[in-house]
Amino acid sequence: MPRVVVFDEFGGPDVLHVVDEPAAPPAVGEVRVRIEAFAVNPLDQMMRSGTGPAIVPLPHARLGVEGTGVVDALGPGVTGLAIGDPVILTAIPDASVRGSYAEYTTVPASRVIARPAGLTVTEAAAVWVAYSTAYGALVEKAGMRPGDHVLITAASGGVGRAAMQIASQIGAVPIAITRHSAKKDALLSAGAAAVIATDHADIADAVRRHTGGAGADIVLDVVMGPGQQDLLKAARPGATLVVAGFLDPRPTPFPAVAPLTIYRYRSFDHTLDAVVVKRMAAFLNAGVRLGTLRPAVGQVFALDDVVEAHRYLEEGRHDGKIVVTVGRLPQPARGHLEGGSRGQRLHLDELAVLPLGDVAGRDRGVRGRVERDQPGDGPRVGARDGGVELARAGAAGPGERVGQHPGEAWPGSR
Ligand SMILES: NC(=O)c1ccc[n+]([C@@H]2O[C@H](COP(=O)([O-])OP(=O)(O)OC[C@H]3O[C@@H](n4cnc5c(N)ncnc54)[C@H](OP(=O)(O)O)[C@@H]3O)[C@@H](O)[C@H]2O)c1
Repeated sequence: MPRVVVFDEFGGPDVLHVVDEPAAPPAVGEVRVRIEAFAVNPLDQMMRSGTGPAIVPLPHARLGVEGTGVVDALGPGVTGLAIGDPVILTAIPDASVRGSYAEYTTVPASRVIARPAGLTVTEAAAVWVAYSTAYGALVEKAGMRPGDHVLITAASGGVGRAAMQIASQIGAVPIAITRHSAKKDALLSAGAAAVIATDHADIADAVRRHTGGAGADIVLDVVMGPGQQDLLKAARPGATLVVAGFLDPRPTPFPAVAPLTIYRYRSFDHTLDAVVVKRMAAFLNAGVRLGTLRPAVGQVFALDDVVEAHRYLEEGRHDGKIVVTVGRLPQPARGHLEGGSRGQRLHLDELAVLPLGDVAGRDRGVRGRVERDQPGDGPRVGARDGGVELARAGAAGPGERVGQHPGEAWPGSR
């Protein structure tokens, strides 16, 4: 029986549980998608804890506003899609009913687009919310142009990283904000032209320094709260402020600094509009093809560990997107080990079941650790120290296949 994550009361991560449930057949104009992986977003945490913004009817509420999988069944009248097509989900405003935390979901056919070629399953699961939000806020709302200095809050987060890449692709200048100096180097590697760490620097002073005294042209604020005042001091006269998130729950004083154009970006205002989605998808596909847009997947969990995935988000330990895989990933993982001993260094094409030990995906410069063994289902990958990115790496050598099924050969571990 297909499995789905539900919750019957609002609360902490523990309210989530997995139940068996038949997959609904698609109605007229709908498609059923067999989910391969989904990303965990701050909105999911808010829905689970009952802190808005949407009304969530209980009990038996689902979760999940993005994910990827393959078309599994077509409702009457659906054209342009075929069973087996790899797709990503673009908008699930009724996530409490159709959420992507499941083995199957059924959505209107207009809410899926072809999975961008060149992304792994875990990357594809994590791409839409972050990149459509950053694109929508910066391009559709703020009209970002080449040369614009763009101040990006929570730059190490999913939306922030996407915003830095999108600004760079357009020729704008992304200035990243983080609360921690320790993240500076990572943000520069992730594409920031400059990084302001608020534990050591004053935002307005630093922005003036980086913009020749002019100030930022665009401010993307996904944090809000009293800290927004510091962003406004860093904006040039006539700048644009786009508010797209609310990581800081404290009240936000009215932005009295003028002249300033202020927009509030709400995803579903855009991602339910087929014309805008077409633009977003075209931009995304071009960026993936050129290699300028690529989501950073931080931690990967299995469906049975969904509570742990939420705990990870809640504790703010993530670095890059948190992704949950559903069932077995479609292709067996391949790769090879260097060094001979268990789990020292490897190249992989996709997430795999790995033996215990340290792992490193050299090509993506990331590290991680296999944290625990799960009897009956093989050991799984957990992540620490910047996260495991076990997707798409170097070529697999002939015959050097990493076992995905319990008992399968693991080169170097014999
Ligand atoms: N409007 C929309 O349609 C829309 C769509 C998507 C997301 N959002 C919202 O946008 C926000 C960001 O989403 P995301 O997925 O990028 O989140 P995320 O990946 O969870 O962001 C994590 C980063 O945010 C920073 N951060 C966390 N709490 C903070 C705080 N209180 N003050 C300052 N920085 C904080 C941290 O960076 P440092 O430690 O480096 O400071 C952290 O690494 C969320 O509020 C989300 O709900 C809105």
